[in-house]
Amino acid sequence: MKPLASGTATALNGRLRAPGDKSISHRALILGALSVGCTRVTGLLEGEDVLCTAEAMRTLGAGVARGPDGAWIIDGVGLGGLAEPQNVLDFGNSGTGARLVMGVVASHAFTSFFTGDASLRRRPMGRVAEPLQRIGARIVAREGGRLPLAVIGAASPLPISYRLPVASAQVKSAVLLAGLNAPGETLVVEPQPTRDHSERMLRHFGAEVTVSDAPEGRRIILQGQPELKAADLAVPGDPSSAAFPAVAALVVPGSEVVIEGVGVNPLRAGLFETLREMGADITFSRERIEGGEPIADLKVRTSALTGVEVPAERAPRMIDEYPVLAVAASFAKGRTVMHGLGELRVKESDRLAAIAQGLAACGVTVAVAGDSLAVEGLGAPPPGGAEIAAKLDHRIAMAFLVLGLAASRPVRIDDGATIATSFPGFVEAMNGLGAGITPLAP
Ligand code: S3P
Repeated sequence: MKPLASGTATALNGRLRAPGDKSISHRALILGALSVGCTRVTGLLEGEDVLCTAEAMRTLGAGVARGPDGAWIIDGVGLGGLAEPQNVLDFGNSGTGARLVMGVVASHAFTSFFTGDASLRRRPMGRVAEPLQRIGARIVAREGGRLPLAVIGAASPLPISYRLPVASAQVKSAVLLAGLNAPGETLVVEPQPTRDHSERMLRHFGAEVTVSDAPEGRRIILQGQPELKAADLAVPGDPSSAAFPAVAALVVPGSEVVIEGVGVNPLRAGLFETLREMGADITFSRERIEGGEPIADLKVRTSALTGVEVPAERAPRMIDEYPVLAVAASFAKGRTVMHGLGELRVKESDRLAAIAQGLAACGVTVAVAGDSLAVEGLGAPPPGGAEIAAKLDHRIAMAFLVLGLAASRPVRIDDGATIATSFPGFVEAMNGLGAGITPLAP
């Protein structure tokens, strides 16, 4: 347990680089391992989640190592060339790592065992197991399709057509990764578009992926058994991590912060769109494309925010940002209502409950009705002064530390250890801007 406290900061000022994008880092390791040749990846997130995927790809036979200059070198085995893992694959806290690698091994003719930490062992895997079984894999899981589980990969995987029953980039990606090793076309239809990093990166490594919009949703077609070739990659800064210093700068009076090299892929940018609707002063500069992804520098200044209605259709484009958006909403003037939050119940914690309980403990009026969350903003700093249970959830921990920076009284969190899954060095980065986040005795 690593308890932390954040007390009132006077102003946040300066520049920082957000850590590498977690989603893109997982995919770089996986696709690098499935390609022929050596891929050099710069800016890889060295968070615990991604390091678990690195270890898994090593256990599956690829060479994965950090070079002396900080770049990662992946010595790929080529599609279909992975070896049966000699040990259990442990994904720690990472749903993305576990689900994407389940997709990979589903079309390899060997057996793999998957596990993770207490949070990951509670999360639903049936949503991935179901399409992978159609491809020909057998999956033996605990009650509710949970980890630990075994994937017995298909010797003759089938290309499938699959309509996503939930808006999930992880499920989409698992199906596409399994489809790589199947002959013919794998089709995924997503009724609501989700982050498209897999599609972009598959193309980067030489696969043929076509995307079109149809009345039933977005159709993604992958041509199976491509020749994947090593291709160097620069990982952009993670907008989901940039979200924390960005909201902190908005709510701490007198702040001006620049966050460099942040990924602004439109399918990830829902938070910035929403904050601007609330009146946030956020400007993008030096917009450019790196490694097939749009990036920009973000300048954020303290702003008077107003409550807004956030439509359900926006949820997949900002699914990880609701904890920190709810914090911003508690400072805004008036009510913010966020719709379509059902998926938050199956993240690293039940985030809908964790947000509501945490805000209530900090003296904010909140209500959950079905899949919607309403936050009554005070138009002034919320009281704070609570101890928040982070529930093995990095984003709950960071969101409430941000709240504490501008609340009337300090906020404590019981355990900040999982922050290292996505934002190693978070406390140092925030304190470098002028925040006063301090460790407490356990
Ligand atoms: C991710 C997709 C999202 C997101 C997660 C990362 C990815 O999950 O919450 O943090 O990298 O594909 P779902 O696709 O399950 O919504």
